[in-house]
Amino acid sequence: MSRLQKTTILIFGITGDLSTRKLLPALSKIVATGECGDVSIVGVSRRSITVDELLASAGFDNLADRTSILSMDISQASEYDRLSRHLALDSSGQVLVYLAVPPSAATQIVDFIGAAGMCTPNVKILFEKPFGVDYDSAVEMIGRTSRYFKEDQLYRIDHYLAKEMAQNIIAVRGGNALFSQVWSNKSIEAIEVIASETLGVERRGGFYEQTGALRDIIQGHLLQLLALTLMDIPPGFDWKALPKFRLAALEALRQAKPDQAIRAQYKEYQDEVGNPGSLTETFASLTFTSTDPTWHGVPLTLTTGKMLDTKFTLIRIHLKKQHEAQSNILEFRIQPDEGIRIELYSKKPGYNQAFEVRHLGFSYPDDEQLPEAYEQVLVDAIRSQKSLFTTSEEVLRSWQLLALVQQAWSFDSTQLYRYQPGVSASAVLADMTKLPPEFPIES
Ligand code: BG6
Repeated sequence: MSRLQKTTILIFGITGDLSTRKLLPALSKIVATGECGDVSIVGVSRRSITVDELLASAGFDNLADRTSILSMDISQASEYDRLSRHLALDSSGQVLVYLAVPPSAATQIVDFIGAAGMCTPNVKILFEKPFGVDYDSAVEMIGRTSRYFKEDQLYRIDHYLAKEMAQNIIAVRGGNALFSQVWSNKSIEAIEVIASETLGVERRGGFYEQTGALRDIIQGHLLQLLALTLMDIPPGFDWKALPKFRLAALEALRQAKPDQAIRAQYKEYQDEVGNPGSLTETFASLTFTSTDPTWHGVPLTLTTGKMLDTKFTLIRIHLKKQHEAQSNILEFRIQPDEGIRIELYSKKPGYNQAFEVRHLGFSYPDDEQLPEAYEQVLVDAIRSQKSLFTTSEEVLRSWQLLALVQQAWSFDSTQLYRYQPGVSASAVLADMTKLPPEFPIES
């Protein structure tokens, strides 16, 4: 598809949290660059709302005259003929259907769209994660969507893959001998991927109650960052080959074992979602191992939590030490302060021969604006570039990797450990294991 053809972005859930916090700001920036040709937006909303009401508070003035809103009941099949007429689909442009709705609603909408005949080759469907809620539901979703749409029309979003520093993992690992030489269990003894969030569940209590930290962050975002860290680099940096290489890394992982998984919940969560006794985890930490000989024996730990002390996402590589007085930490900082940081012992200036820790690395200067992940996702979908979207095989494999833990947690009705909002991820882990964490987590 040509880059400059007309694109209509049809957003289900236009008034929701994702749309107002991420999609509309991203679209406003994309439109301002003029790089994606003629873009218009059709928002679908159950409640009746005007374009001015939707955009006014947010200040996306450049979207106003290219946006329209259709109020409809998305659970009624008959409404989709009206939607189809509103779109006036023809072959002169493409339609991106953005499903900013939970997985159960997404499948039904795809059925209705397909049945209403809106499944021509110029229609693409963008799914928000999680794709399904477990392995079986993902298989079912894949089967149902394939009745109307081909795989090349489906874009499964994991916006962490589109973060600038996530893409940079590949560039830095493959582009520098310094990194490629040490990238195996010969030099690396452990890898941690951590996403610490300060926000709670905000307006998304209903969604979060059915999701939890395991499905929300670990199944997609953190497993994908881990895959980028472990996978072979495609020859010639062929970005199109990324999904295949990520999948190979996921295939080599063993399923996480319940005795290597921890879950917890922040105090106040149950009141916030109005569900006393809720067993939904807002904090989770799982350790994987890989069958790939390159990574044999290296613990791979993924940790995430909401309502913690700091917002950061990073990948921390622990190099093997030759002796105790060596530093050994290399970090990919996915956000904030995007960049790379290496802990470095150096001589402390002065007359005494003492050492001190300094940091070697880079981060992007403040005036160098990095594209937001959702801008990249939308631009790539408009241009039909799929390397930063997850394939059905990747989705299925990631659910398989979590299956034992999901099963164990669904049968365990004991109250979760409850942590104080504002504590650090390492404090939660230390408290739960009653041991000082072997590798302290800090931002
Ligand atoms: C989303 C999750 O996918 O990612 C949210 O559903 C989470 O719960 C968000 O807050 C974090 O994204 P980011 O880009 O702000 O780190």
